[in-house]
Amino acid sequence: MARVVWVTGCDTGVGKTVVAAALVRSLSRGGRRVLGVKPFCSGGREDVTALATAQGLGEDACARLNPWFFPEPLTPLLAARRAGRRVARAEVLRFLRQSREGQDDLVVEGAGGLLSPLGEDYDARDLIRRTPGLWRVVVVVPNRLGAINQALLVMDALGAAARQARVALVSPPRPTPVARTNLALLRERVGASSVVAFPWLPRPESPSGGRRVQRAVAALLA
Ligand SMILES: Nc1ncnc2c1ncn2[C@@H]1O[C@H](COP(=O)(O)OP(=O)(O)O)[C@@H](O)[C@H]1O
Ligand SMILES: [Mg+2]
Repeated sequence: MARVVWVTGCDTGVGKTVVAAALVRSLSRGGRRVLGVKPFCSGGREDVTALATAQGLGEDACARLNPWFFPEPLTPLLAARRAGRRVARAEVLRFLRQSREGQDDLVVEGAGGLLSPLGEDYDARDLIRRTPGLWRVVVVVPNRLGAINQALLVMDALGAAARQARVALVSPPRPTPVARTNLALLRERVGASSVVAFPWLPRPESPSGGRRVQRAVAALLA
């Protein structure tokens, strides 16, 4: 059964797609059979296109990678309600089970943050808790003032699942004193190996797969 790598975060617009795409690229370059999916998407579908590109797929793969797309830029539950749809948790779990078949790794980008409502009675945390077998949670947090609080809130909300989690602390475009001290203090609080500095990429849509990204990906999955 494929390992599931859940890419969640403290918010929307924090770097989940960039990190998920880097994971997909790096794992497939390493010879792993990997599929990157984003079950829920609302507003635009750019994230799905980015994930498709990262795994060498075209636009035609979007429906497979993203079965639930809603045009309104709202949290998936509200966007689905506006579209007159209901997505049952069992359907999502079935999609994830099927997506794992024949893969070594399944990378799942969440929609919004960990507790963004996906359906009437579930969110990403609930899906993570129901995932059997091997899995890992990657919590994406931009490394700026306030990052420590945001990372600790998400790790706290994960409860026992935090043991399988890594914080991807996304470096700012230019080094800042706060970014350095955040990294050190967060490592002190949650354990050195649980916090990984993820580099700022000059061209995130086509990262070169440089050594810094490779190292970050390896640390996120270790
Ligand atoms: N590591 C990074 N390097 C370069 N740009 C980044 C990085 N992380 C995030 N960004 C930029 O920040 C914005 C939001 O990132 P995105 O991955 O789309 O967030 P999310 O998926 O959490 O909504 C995008 O413009 C993205 O290119
Ligand atoms: Mg995204």
